This record gives sequence, structure tokens and C-alpha cells, in this order.
Amino acid sequence: MFKTKISGVGMYVPKDVVTNNDLLKYMDTSDEWIQERTGIRERRYAHRTEETTTTMGVEAAKIAIERAGITPHDIDFIIFATLSPDYYFPGCGVLLQRAMKMKEIGALDVRNQCSGFIYALSVGDQFIKNGMYKNILIVGAEKHSFGLDFSTRGRNISVIFGDGAGAVVLQPSVNDSGILSTHLHSDGENAEILAMYNPGTHANHWKDQKLADFDDAEIAEMFMSHKMIDKAQLFPNMDGPAVFKKAIEKFPEVIMEALTVNNLQTSDLRLLIPHQANLRISQFVQKKLGLSDDQVYNNIQKYGNTTAASIPIALCEAWEQGKIKNGDLICLAAFGSGFTWASALIKW
Ligand SMILES: CC(C)(COP(=O)(O)OP(=O)(O)OC[C@H]1O[C@@H](n2cnc3c(N)ncnc32)[C@H](O)[C@@H]1OP(=O)(O)O)[C@@H](O)C(=O)NCCC(=O)NCCS
Repeated sequence: MFKTKISGVGMYVPKDVVTNNDLLKYMDTSDEWIQERTGIRERRYAHRTEETTTTMGVEAAKIAIERAGITPHDIDFIIFATLSPDYYFPGCGVLLQRAMKMKEIGALDVRNQCSGFIYALSVGDQFIKNGMYKNILIVGAEKHSFGLDFSTRGRNISVIFGDGAGAVVLQPSVNDSGILSTHLHSDGENAEILAMYNPGTHANHWKDQKLADFDDAEIAEMFMSHKMIDKAQLFPNMDGPAVFKKAIEKFPEVIMEALTVNNLQTSDLRLLIPHQANLRISQFVQKKLGLSDDQVYNNIQKYGNTTAASIPIALCEAWEQGKIKNGDLICLAAFGSGFTWASALIKW
């Protein structure tokens, strides 16, 4: 069996920088509150009418493909991770295939939110290892700015998220470098505490509770309604403190799982690239695992939480800054909505 190596990385972030102070135009918040709770100073928002999740993914993909020394025509499988697709269906994978004039290859969309990139990486790894494909493109991209509640009501969520895209190309490794292992987990018990319910086919049931104040007759009629708009039901919901609590439990657990399976220790890690959920979460994980500052890469300060894009953007930046060299041990780890969480250990 082959090992899978990441042979090209790319990223794209929109030009529009939105500072915490810029958000004061829409909601009651403060730079101090946002920085203290999340570490975020600014984020990027896509151009409202010219950029989409797919177009940003394409820009990141072009760079990753070029750096892998191949062309879009050489790609033989696409995996696209996002929670903010251009269309409810079809997914962004086929839109990218069309935009990049690729061959009639397989295109798979992954909907695992914050852990989407690592889930995609794990799927791609299996296809390379068993010899089915030679050049797989993985993209994580999000256009959050289009679907957030920018009133004070939605401030606990809207200040956190930003737009952008990252991409990697996977190929068979010719030596012992590459992905050592991936680890995927889920627990749907609290699926609704970080979720966007509408539009959806949930029939207004959340376990034995009702999701929203709609009677059954209305639910029977609608997929999307004026009442949903009036009651701001078309935005994500999040119980921040509950997410925080679970994240600081599962991040260290899944990182240690990856190291233990490979008989390695935290001191062997050159770089941990955690999903950029919240700087306080990353700092907690760093402390808990006894990692030094230069063993952990964070860039949430500049981009906010870009969900499926956050790990490939951070990976690309760290690589561009010379923080990742051949032979280095890199750990990617994520936790998010679902809940799902995951890690990947890579010998670069
Ligand atoms: C969202 C998060 C930053 C909120 O911080 P917190 O300290 O838990 O804050 P709470 O939600 O308990 O709210 C505390 C107060 O701040 C207020 N608040 C919430 N958002 C605010 C904002 N943007 N600006 C100012 N005040 C805000 C709340 O209304 C609340 O006010 P109250 O005490 O008068 O009711 C934090 O819970 C978090 O980061 N959780 C993890 C979220 C995450 O990582 N999500 C992505 C998963 S991948």
C-alpha cells in the first residue's frame, strides 16, 4: 500500500477586511469583547455578488494544483467540504469541476462542518492508499457572511465566522512520508446546539421537543416561509458555552489518539494545526498538551472561524512561512457541529 502525501497547498481569502469595530455598525458588541472571548481581530467577507464558496475554492485549488506540479486535467477525484454551498443541491464539487474544466471525474461533497476538511482528507487518503486514484483535489471553502444574523440577536455567532478557502492535492508518496493515520468521530446527541435547521426536512422535531414555534399545519406546508424570515429562523444557532466545553474535551483526546496509535508523543510534534474555532480553545489545548508556542499554529486573529476552510488555510500559511519542512510531524485536529471531531497525523 502507498502512503498519501500532500503535494500542493493553496489558499484564497477575499480582499474585504472586516474589523471588529466595523461590526459595530450592525450590532451591539465591542472589539474588546470579541478579542477577549475569541482572539479574533478581523475577518474577510466575500464580495456579495462576485464571489461564492465555489469561486473561492477554485482560486485556492489553482494554487494547490500548480504547486503539486500538475494541471487541473490531471486531477482524478474532487472532494469539496463546505457547510455554505452555492446551492442546496447540487454540491460545490461539480461546480468546481465545471469551472476548472476538469475531466468527467468523480466529485464528492462532504458536509461535516468544522471537521469537514479532515474527513475529506481521510476519504482521499483511502483512495490513494489502495491505488484507485493518483491526484485527488481536496477543497474546504465557506461563504459564511451571506448567512449570518448581523443584528444584536445573532452577535454570539456572527462575530466569529469569516469567509475563505483552502485546498490540497493528494498523491501517492514515494518514500515513508505522508499521512500516518486519520481518526474520525461523532456524537449526534447534541446535534441541534450548533446547527442551522432551516430550510430542512426536520418536521419541526428535535428529539421530543419542537424546534421552533410553528404548528404542525404550517410545518406540513412549508420548506421555507415568511414566518421563518420574520422570526429569524434562517440563521445558525449555537450554544457557545456548551460547544466550548465539549471542544476542549475532544480536541486533546483526538490529538492524543493520533499520537498514541503511532507510538509518538507531543514532544515529537513539529506543528499542531487546530481548526480555528476560537483562540481560547486552541490555547487551552496547547496548555493541556504542554506544547510550546511555536508548536501550535493559529491565524484566527486575521480570518475568524472559516469552518471547513480553516485548516487548509492555516496549513497553507504555515507552509508558506517555512514552518513546515520535509520530515516534520504535523497534526491536524478539528471539532465542531454534529458534534464531529477528527485528527490526522502527517509526516511531511
Ligand atoms: C461564543 C463564545 C465566544 C461566547 O462567549 P461566552 O463567554 O461563552 O459568552 P456567553 O454566550 O455566555 O454570553 C455572555 C454574555 O455576552 C453576550 N454576548 C454574546 N455575544 C456577544 C458579542 N458579540 N458582543 C458582546 N456581547 C456578547 C451575551 O449576550 C451574554 O450577555 P448576558 O450575560 O448579558 O446574557 C464562546 O462561548 C465560544 O467561543 N464558544 C465556542 C464556540 C465555537 O467555537 N464555535 C465554533 C465551533 S467550531
